Amino acid sequence: MSEKNFYLTTAIDYVNGAPHIGHAYEKIMTDIIAKHYSQRQDNVYFLSGTDEHGIKIQKTAAANGLTPQELCDKNAKSFTDTWELLGIDYNKFIRTSSSEHKKIVQKIFKKLVEKGDIYKHSYTGLYCSGCECFLTSKDLDENGCCLIHGKKPDEVKEENYFFKLTKYKDAIAKHIKENSDFILPQFRANEVLNQLENIEDISVSRAKSSVQWGIDVLDDPEQIIYVWIDALSNYITAIGYDTENPACDFYKNWEADVQVIGKDILKFHAIYWPAILMALDLPLPKHLLAHGWITIDQSKMSKSTGNVIAPKEVLKDYNLETPDAFRYFLSTSAPYGKDGNYSDVEFKEKVNADLANNIGNLLNRTLNMLVKYFDGEIKSEFKAYGDDEISKKAKNIENDAHFMIDALKDKFDMFQITEAAAEIVKFADIVNKFVNDTAPWTLAKEEKTDECAKVLYTVLEAMHYIAVAIYPYCPNIEKDINEQLSLNDSSYKFSDLKWGDLPEGVITEKSKIKPVFLRLDSELATGKKKG
Ligand code: ME8
Ligand code: MG
Repeated sequence: MSEKNFYLTTAIDYVNGAPHIGHAYEKIMTDIIAKHYSQRQDNVYFLSGTDEHGIKIQKTAAANGLTPQELCDKNAKSFTDTWELLGIDYNKFIRTSSSEHKKIVQKIFKKLVEKGDIYKHSYTGLYCSGCECFLTSKDLDENGCCLIHGKKPDEVKEENYFFKLTKYKDAIAKHIKENSDFILPQFRANEVLNQLENIEDISVSRAKSSVQWGIDVLDDPEQIIYVWIDALSNYITAIGYDTENPACDFYKNWEADVQVIGKDILKFHAIYWPAILMALDLPLPKHLLAHGWITIDQSKMSKSTGNVIAPKEVLKDYNLETPDAFRYFLSTSAPYGKDGNYSDVEFKEKVNADLANNIGNLLNRTLNMLVKYFDGEIKSEFKAYGDDEISKKAKNIENDAHFMIDALKDKFDMFQITEAAAEIVKFADIVNKFVNDTAPWTLAKEEKTDECAKVLYTVLEAMHYIAVAIYPYCPNIEKDINEQLSLNDSSYKFSDLKWGDLPEGVITEKSKIKPVFLRLDSELATGKKKG
């Protein structure tokens, strides 16, 4: 079996606050993609991390009486703790304040200076600390405020280093036009091409007199490398670019398969980052996946409105022992690349409908019937198809199971996570309909034992497919379903998945049957919210 390397990354989060649902959305989506591709037997390397330099961190630390490093250490831990709680299984977590990262960034900067792609230039500009970048007139509203942050940028007069972005403008436009799946979803590509029209060289350093918390420019101690060149480089410093002993061998042929980011930072990833890579003679990522924004009760999350939700609070409030329901809801809360919304009502309704009622109940009632009618035993003859009507329907279910897996792969080729999940639910609907149409309880009453057995067996085999399909979203539910089916290997690759995998013999008994997902009932939900 040939193994393909699959390298994927998330954006690295600013650590001036605690992680919120928006950060979680991106990390969960990326983890789901990583898990899906590992089911395809790819050799997956998943990178995440935190972005720790810049004026915002410096100011927040000062306001809290901490050194910037102390603030970063404290907050980076709240990110990694949250990711652990949510089952985010990255291979590496990079912190940009680490010495390994800083050293390589300095070398990258020096390389670009030597190449003539970074030059020194005296400059007056409008700096938005929210964006951590200089703004142009296009980024301002009629009052001269930043379109994204609504605040007046600071007027800054400095001698800075500049990166020759304009040199790469045509090459980037060409790349975007020739690779229609470089920017995903594709509807965002035009937006980037428009931004590219007005691009100027960008400032990549700040004077130490105005910012201290950053990486020193080698050979010019009065200058600090400013956030974007530092932050973007994480994707290669983390895997050991320009080091003797890289952490993994991806860097030799550096090419990320997909870089998952929010739509607000697409410009940096689709323009700045490709230019830096081109300047370093490195290949561009194959795909940039720009996701939308998660709102809370339809409004933008913000500290001032006080509607920022921490993921761990949701798990606590609903008494969730595993993150599966939250992972499932959040990752499917928005259509491909569009904005999504979190509300308690939607959360409850969706996970109750899909996980408890549709999938959970299906397993539960089928196992109960297997115990009631067949003492929990699967016999080899249950597996054979005859010429009867039930066999015909059962065979259709088997075909539909294979179609579902193929459909999942198709959706994941473009990282359509919500749409892929809908395929699983669609299949579970079909299986539920099969149970209702064939009515195994009636077949049992009429002593049509063979037919009844065929139905139950088919549903359980289908449940195994559902478990494997839902694994990237709900790894604990997958494990639980497979355990209840007496299948103890819980990391199924698609190539190992076969119809007929269920063991023969007694697979369950009354006391072993339990719901794989408990309904979030309204009482729990209404009683939970802290004032
Ligand atoms: O932009 N909904 O950091 P960040 C969905 N450090 N996604 C959201 C979101 C929301 N409400 N809020 C934030 C930065 N995000 C830089 C990135 S990468 C080299 C440097 C997403 O903490 C946002 O779109 O502001 C981004 O992808 C990520 O969270 C980190 O945002
Ligand atoms: Mg942001």
